[in-house]
Amino acid sequence: MKDKIVLQNLSKTFQTESGRAVPVLEDINLTIRDNEFLLVIGPSGCGKTTLLSCIAGFEEPTSGEILMDGEVVKGPSAQRGVVFQETALFPWRRVEKNVEYGLEVRGMPRQERKKIAQKYLEMVGLQDFADAYPKELSGGMKKRLTIATVYANNPEVLLMDEPFSALDYPTKCRLQMDLMDLWTKEKKTTVFISHDVEEAVLLSDRIIVLNRHKIALEYQNPFPRPRRDELRSDPKFIEAKEYIKGAYWNESQKAQ
Ligand SMILES: Nc1ncnc2c1ncn2[C@@H]1O[C@H](COP(=O)(O)OP(=O)(O)OP(=O)(O)O)[C@@H](O)[C@H]1O
Ligand SMILES: [Mg+2]
Repeated sequence: MKDKIVLQNLSKTFQTESGRAVPVLEDINLTIRDNEFLLVIGPSGCGKTTLLSCIAGFEEPTSGEILMDGEVVKGPSAQRGVVFQETALFPWRRVEKNVEYGLEVRGMPRQERKKIAQKYLEMVGLQDFADAYPKELSGGMKKRLTIATVYANNPEVLLMDEPFSALDYPTKCRLQMDLMDLWTKEKKTTVFISHDVEEAVLLSDRIIVLNRHKIALEYQNPFPRPRRDELRSDPKFIEAKEYIKGAYWNESQKAQ
């Protein structure tokens, strides 16, 4: 399988307002293959969002580089759709118009973009809120709207920063299954950040545990696809979850 995104000796150090250097990522080498679903977990503050922001092109590496399809990432691109940890919506646009935004910018005719918006609003269960404003939605609903917006834009790569963390368990399970269905159909290269070990084992092809500026563990997910909801209660699945949980826990204990 071809390489989609390559991180070469990627390091990122932030300079705080008070002039202090905060090293976050140190000499990371990682190849994300085309169509791969890569999951990143690690203790809070270990640099997951920073890693995603660098891949998205919002943050510039301090040293090293990121390549997508062999080209150096120099800034944000519509080919990399990002679901942020904090919801990013246009408060003055109605729900449906938020989903249509990217399509509008690209000059897609009204009827066509309305159809796409409806399809993705339905997918996240917000079809009855098409005319509402974002402030009329709950936190979880806003998150679902952001996901619909990113899907509607049909990017080549999906970068998702804990997209389901604010959701109740049944909604989360449904969206995880929807995301897997979508991934199976379109096989978009995905980098997905999570704190949830069940989510990690269910969704991923590969899991990396990030800690103390580096990749602390890499785990090739053995479960064949398609994966059904029932897999969650399979003893082998629970065993895999425990293994990742153990590694994650050990790393969290080591976190500074
Ligand atoms: N713009 C910035 N300026 C200075 N320091 C920053 C900046 N952004 C992030 N950091 C620091 O970088 C480190 C990693 O932050 P990051 O947001 O990547 O963590 P994270 O793994 O996503 O955490 P969480 O799980 O809580 O979302 C933290 O110590 C944070 O304080
Ligand atoms: Mg984060």
